Amino acid sequence: MNCESSLKLENGKYMIRDIDILGLCKKYGTPLYVYDAAKISEQIALFRRAFKGIDLKIKFAAKSLSNINILKLMKKEGIGLDTVSLQEIQFGLQAGFSPEEIVYTPNIEYFSEIIKAAEMGVSINIENLSNLEKFGKEFGNRIPCCIRLNPNIIAEAEREKVSNWHNQSKFGISLFQFDKLEKLVEKYHLRINGIHIHSSHAIMTTEIFLKGAKIIFDLAKKFPDLEYFDFGGGIKVADFEGENVIDIVELGAEFKVVFDEFCAEYGRKLQLWFEPGRFLVGESGYLLTEVVVRKTNGDVEFAGVDSGFNHLIRPMMYGAFHEIVNISKPNGIKQKYSVVGNLCEIDDFGRDRMLNEVSEGDILMIKNAGAYGFVMSSNYNARFRPPEILIINEEAELIRKRETMEDLLRNQIEIEI
Ligand code: LLP
Repeated sequence: MNCESSLKLENGKYMIRDIDILGLCKKYGTPLYVYDAAKISEQIALFRRAFKGIDLKIKFAAKSLSNINILKLMKKEGIGLDTVSLQEIQFGLQAGFSPEEIVYTPNIEYFSEIIKAAEMGVSINIENLSNLEKFGKEFGNRIPCCIRLNPNIIAEAEREKVSNWHNQSKFGISLFQFDKLEKLVEKYHLRINGIHIHSSHAIMTTEIFLKGAKIIFDLAKKFPDLEYFDFGGGIKVADFEGENVIDIVELGAEFKVVFDEFCAEYGRKLQLWFEPGRFLVGESGYLLTEVVVRKTNGDVEFAGVDSGFNHLIRPMMYGAFHEIVNISKPNGIKQKYSVVGNLCEIDDFGRDRMLNEVSEGDILMIKNAGAYGFVMSSNYNARFRPPEILIINEEAELIRKRETMEDLLRNQIEIEI
């Protein structure tokens, strides 16, 4: 399930909610990011359905797609926000969230940032003993805080870079230091109102999730002031049709049983928080790019496009798979191509992909690009970052314009050389 793109082929044209995608490329040029608001709303509804019967608070992980209009859409949908920097908190406030709806879950943060976030009135999440001690000294029990634990589940992840539950990962307070944590809580009378764990999507299965939850539930009994558990993000969506990913409805049903048991034992109904990023916005986003050069080197057929890892870094950084479709040739004969970007180094979007016959001028659509796409883009090779379009209420709205030379030079200071 979970892999239901809203892209449709109708009368030879690729459409998203009645918007002709090639038409958008003509109007705004390429490369271009396009997001489908209705898909985001559907994912939110699915998330809520999966955890029905539980006091659920969804906090959208702003880091995955932080355009202010996406945040406004989240606010309108009645969900909260997960932020990892003071700037993301400010984005949230600008989008209309109240501080109470925002959680701040930074990593390797200055303590001064925690103070500022506390002054702003957002929920505080602390992930290391050093800052927890400073928090105790500064606030004692005047302000509650949530602690992020690292439950030391050895990740069977293929991608070490994002396996946060590993006991050597930098995230969270290690369970091996739990006695130190307890001493700090006692010494400063800390009011621990939440326990947080976040697992990487690379290891997420219902089994691993429940294993983590049980470890946390056991420890939670030591904290009498709990109001919520925060299980972070990491719920994966399928990278391609048929990929076997976690079934959120099944996860919700199985989780409810152990959660209800825990609450009964704890003596109080707690809230359940999640911080999904990719689950909500991943499939809603597409990167559109034009084929600039077709070339053959050795026995490889290259489709060289007007984008690169400066616009979508996931394939090069994580070896992530993004499905690619030639939307200019719905009926072209399938052939094998390597789709490569225009940066002056190895810059692959996908190797050996079967695509409908590709010619220069065709538009390729890179799917599942809503999460960690634009937000991780850069100006490498002095290229402009693409515009972003939001399809909402049957209209395609420009929500970020393409950069210009002025943007590239804005912060440079020319000196006499
Ligand atoms: N909460 C915390 C504390 C996190 O660290 C993250 C992501 C999330 C929530 C949201 O996770 P999601 O539901 O989106 O998986 N750039 C990488 C992903 C890094 C994720 C970092 N933390 C990628 O492109 O795959």
